[in-house]
Amino acid sequence: ETSPLTTPNANIARIIPSLPLETRWPPFPLRRYANFWLPEVTLKEGVPGVHSCFEPRPTDVFLASFPKSGTTWLKALAFATLKRSTHPPFDDDHPLRHCNPHDCVRFLELGFNQQKDELEALPSPRVLATHLPYSLLPGSITGDGEHSGCRIVYVCREPKDTLVSYWLFTRKAAPACGVDARSFTIQEALELFCDGRCPGGPQWNHVLQYWKESVRRPDRVLFLRYEEVLIEPEAHVRKLANFMGCGFSEEEEERGVVSTIVELCSLGKLRDMEVNRNGSTRLGTKNESFFRKGVAGDWSNHMTPEMAHSLDKVVEDALQETGFTF
Ligand code: A3P
Repeated sequence: ETSPLTTPNANIARIIPSLPLETRWPPFPLRRYANFWLPEVTLKEGVPGVHSCFEPRPTDVFLASFPKSGTTWLKALAFATLKRSTHPPFDDDHPLRHCNPHDCVRFLELGFNQQKDELEALPSPRVLATHLPYSLLPGSITGDGEHSGCRIVYVCREPKDTLVSYWLFTRKAAPACGVDARSFTIQEALELFCDGRCPGGPQWNHVLQYWKESVRRPDRVLFLRYEEVLIEPEAHVRKLANFMGCGFSEEEEERGVVSTIVELCSLGKLRDMEVNRNGSTRLGTKNESFFRKGVAGDWSNHMTPEMAHSLDKVVEDALQETGFTF
């Protein structure tokens, strides 16, 4: 296996044809690099671009996640919180009311070359997102001796719910990429997911890397759980604000700013907005496909107990003696 130790991340593009290939998870071919399965295009453009051309600022906040773990929600909450002096959440023309959260907060590695200048033009503090594993982020973001690194907020989700959400999303979103994924079954998705053969997989290793870092550097890496945010959204918005260095004042608390942000970013509100019912993201995905049920435990409506057991077992074995549990 080729590792980042032998191949600088900025030069991966060259060795892609020699990396293990997986084509069964629609719509993009995946390659295994440095123990993760990633879309070929991410390895071809995203990782090299981020490593060689991206200039992080100390004030940048990165929202990191494995796909289908609550990224859209985290983007909305973090953007509304960090940008509230420019865009008060009470405003009728708040960006989240006419832009999908994925267009308010860009993924660093997606279409990197096309958006490089736009990212540079964004005013500080910037909020950006990534699905890249922690080990594939450049030292300029994670801290490389000269500086302590940017702030990173990670959101994790229970694997079975992540899988079901990912499988349903894939079937819905693949046609926009010219791929018919109607025959992609939950059984197939489960087998691939258990083998780590999905974008960003193995999911538990993606989670584990960020969790370890959050334990080591809690001032720089905040680790959130989707299920806990569902239970106490306001407490998590306060935590997020404090972590990002923009805690709420007493006066803001009295004016109900926290609950207004939670309401603005709620699944019901976002899903009902015209832009999210009929629009598409910059990258062509239908906005509506990012909003489904938004609950914990929906896996039981799509997986048999046997299927659930097999994934639980894989995850349990992989996490043994790590100190982490979902
Ligand atoms: P379900 O498919 O289980 O409903 P991501 O944003 O990382 O792609 O994750 C998508 C999941 O987050 C979907 O889960 C989606 O419904 C849920 N989601 C999207 N917006 C949300 C919000 N505002 N609040 C809670 N959950 C949300």
